[in-house]
Amino acid sequence: MSEDLAILGGDRAITADSAEQWQRPVDKEKEAVCALIDEGYLSGAATGVPKAFEDRFRDYIGCEYVLTTSHGHTALASGFFAAGLGAGDEFITPAIGYIGSYAGALHMGATPVFCEIEADTLLMDPDDVAGRITPKTRVISPIHSSGRVCEMDLLLSLAEKHDLVVVEDAAHAHGSEWDGKRIGNVGHIACFSMQGTTPGGKPVSGGEAGIVATNDRELYERALIYCHLHRSGAVDELTNPVYSELDPQLLGWKWRAHPLAMAIGLISLENLPYRLDHFATNRESLSGG
Ligand SMILES: Cc1ncc(COP(=O)(O)O)c(C=O)c1O
Repeated sequence: MSEDLAILGGDRAITADSAEQWQRPVDKEKEAVCALIDEGYLSGAATGVPKAFEDRFRDYIGCEYVLTTSHGHTALASGFFAAGLGAGDEFITPAIGYIGSYAGALHMGATPVFCEIEADTLLMDPDDVAGRITPKTRVISPIHSSGRVCEMDLLLSLAEKHDLVVVEDAAHAHGSEWDGKRIGNVGHIACFSMQGTTPGGKPVSGGEAGIVATNDRELYERALIYCHLHRSGAVDELTNPVYSELDPQLLGWKWRAHPLAMAIGLISLENLPYRLDHFATNRESLSGG
């Protein structure tokens, strides 16, 4: 091997091919998008491709209810509304976060209470959360990030003790697990982003979109009435008699996902297990264990 650095014309010290081996299935995406354009299905929810995405994501997560939205932050806003958050209430969220994590709560007039993060995981510190709960607290909003999941058992037991709702920012946590269960099937209500393109964007991406997942029927119905104006069959989905007066206009926001995003999201969801498996293998080889 020559003495010169490769950049100066010498031999490469590392000869392994580091190029991304997995190729994004762009042709498949084009086919799915063009099929919707040909069909003229460019608006709608709870039917066709958007319904197929909701059903498939629900089955993948293993939870009871899934609602797709326009973005991750609108999924979170719907989660906060579902939790009953309103003016004068406090919600606890980590000091390192993102404006989209809690903008919806701010617009509802709620006050953020920022908590510490753990030095080793950079995730919400449950002990610090405990010290910040007041009679005004209504919601704890953990942010799962960097492939790590917050201490859900501790956060859920705090929520139970103080009658709070845990609204998870799961923007980056599609397929992440806590105690053998996928996020969306663990806490009260989890909100995912689908922003970006696979593999650089969110783990399941479709350009722009979001997802609400929950096992709680009441939280699902509240999210639905908040953000799914004119969803097909929405009124028939409402079982709570309190909502029996609502017509398909519900509460007026139309924050449903675009069908084209759902078509691309279905393809991204299909190859998620492969990508997660490779992330895990690469992480283990880098961390040496
Ligand atoms: C941690 C976190 N929360 C929420 C969001 C909001 O998602 P969206 O961009 O889909 O509104 C993002 C987006 O990047 C995020 O990184």
